[in-house]
Amino acid sequence: MSSVNNLNGSGAGAVCTRCSPADVEQGRCNATHFVHEKMDDEPVAELEPEIVTPRPPPVDLSHHLSSLARSLRKSNLKGLYKYRSVPGIVNLAGGLPSPNYFPFDSLSASVAPCDRFAESMNSSLLSMLKSSKRCRNITVPKFVSPQGGRSSDVCLASALQYSAVEGLPKLRTFVKEFATKYQHQGKIPYDSPEVIMTCGNTDGLAKALKILGEGARGDKMLVEKYVYGGGPETAAAMGIGIVPVEMDKEGMMADGDGGLQEILESWDTVRDGPRPHLMYTITLGQNPTSSVLGLERRKEIYALCQKYDIIILEDDPYWFLQYGLFPELPDNRTFLARLTPSYITLDTDGRVLRFDTFSKTMAPGCRLGWIIGHPRFTERIARLTDTTTQFPSGAIQALVTKLLVDTWSISGWITWLSLLREKYEQRANLMCAALETSRTVTIIHLKNIRVRDDDGNVIDGPGGKYSLVHKAVKELYEFERPMGGMFIWVRVYFEIHRLFDGTNGQRIMDALFKYLAGPNLRCLVCPGGYFVPLDDGEGDGWKYLRLCFAAVEVEDLKRASENFGRGVKEFFELTEFPPDEDVEADGAGEDAELDVPHFC
Ligand SMILES: Cc1ncc(COP(=O)(O)O)c(C=O)c1O
Repeated sequence: MSSVNNLNGSGAGAVCTRCSPADVEQGRCNATHFVHEKMDDEPVAELEPEIVTPRPPPVDLSHHLSSLARSLRKSNLKGLYKYRSVPGIVNLAGGLPSPNYFPFDSLSASVAPCDRFAESMNSSLLSMLKSSKRCRNITVPKFVSPQGGRSSDVCLASALQYSAVEGLPKLRTFVKEFATKYQHQGKIPYDSPEVIMTCGNTDGLAKALKILGEGARGDKMLVEKYVYGGGPETAAAMGIGIVPVEMDKEGMMADGDGGLQEILESWDTVRDGPRPHLMYTITLGQNPTSSVLGLERRKEIYALCQKYDIIILEDDPYWFLQYGLFPELPDNRTFLARLTPSYITLDTDGRVLRFDTFSKTMAPGCRLGWIIGHPRFTERIARLTDTTTQFPSGAIQALVTKLLVDTWSISGWITWLSLLREKYEQRANLMCAALETSRTVTIIHLKNIRVRDDDGNVIDGPGGKYSLVHKAVKELYEFERPMGGMFIWVRVYFEIHRLFDGTNGQRIMDALFKYLAGPNLRCLVCPGGYFVPLDDGEGDGWKYLRLCFAAVEVEDLKRASENFGRGVKEFFELTEFPPDEDVEADGAGEDAELDVPHFC
């Protein structure tokens, strides 16, 4: 059986060169297609980048640990876990409930094939793949079958039991292999980066901040000037100072006014306290700006972090959503190789802790993600996990294991990510096109001119009168085409609104927000001020709105994007502020809140 793991987007009308037509017909072909339901003999080696070994260990960075991290003890009881796998051992040590009394006998789900979103592929290939379009049923039994099951051997008796803080071993192994060899292309420069599963990036970040940050020590954290609140808000609540760094189209700036270098070089420890030793950054599909930080900039920033001994907390839920890279659907290898790499691929020291989540690749309700980084840090996070969440939900870990390890395998997982990327890019394009059409208004000034003869008499009749037309194009808003992620960051030129008096920017923004959400347009957008990390009233967040193109149905997306443009135009024609009413939809209010998803 062939092992070519190829999305084969380049091959219009591609056919399998290795399997017989009968194999193809009966779904046994595994060569040209992007179907990667795991076959027992399917190696994924052809996707594997070469890994150079041995590598040096990471440097000792324990001086960054907080006093809480230093005082966390290893659980004595969890130390007994290793005996659970000793053949024949009877466990009288653990305070565990009997799995026989778990009310769940099995856990089943109908799951998508990894190539569900492949409509954009050519039709001959699609027709060949018809069989793979069907959902698969997966079942996690209560006990592993004595005959031996699929490769993950995941069962509810262990998944729903108290289990390893680092995550279910089969899942963690999968994630580690995926992260080190594929996502980061075998380029993490130090030996043995470690992985711990989390309940998503919010959980991972909170734990990382606890083991690395300490308000009482005067800790400070560098963040992008506009940034998703998760990291900064958690840090601020711990008394950690927030230091915003200037951004440009690419993301955090290394040099220039307000850039990282200037902040660090001009830091006066007598005046400003200890220099920041943490940096929280979203580098790929930044939330809210959708920028992607290029490799050269990364190198500069990483060098500064080395020089000033800063730990980088890289929060990248959108890493796989990078746009403008692929004129056609790439094969798996090309997909991964072209994505801008993470800081962790430059991390010779082990100073990058990286946060990945299944929230955007599967579903936020999974509450599942992982941290990869320096083993000393992940080990402390494991101790903290032991006293807090213990481990992510066993049920979801079991389902995800069954899907990734037994059903899709690594190549199928990459296919899934690649096709999701494609779908979200289509949405980004759709929204950009709709927003572009209403971005400007043309203002026409008409002046009637009368023509006079040489003696200065007005000439009446044809040719004696004409209009002088002066045309001016005014931009009401502008935006950068997103380079990644799920958002468009719109700069609205409130300053040219006739109601702007130089000081009331926030008021005009609030009025626009309500106008857009009001009964005629029903278009809910996110005010830019929500992404200004220091809420000191000084920021210019009021000039921006964040629009998400990911969540709603394509038809609604189109309509809402058009309504946005129309709404802004109408709003700029207002000569007085609309009545300041709260937007109340029928049935909205406290109770309706329950059905409304949370916002990220
Ligand atoms: C930058 C960033 N980090 C973290 C999160 C939350 O991730 P999780 O669901 O894994 O907690 C989000 C959600 O939108 C996000 O945009």
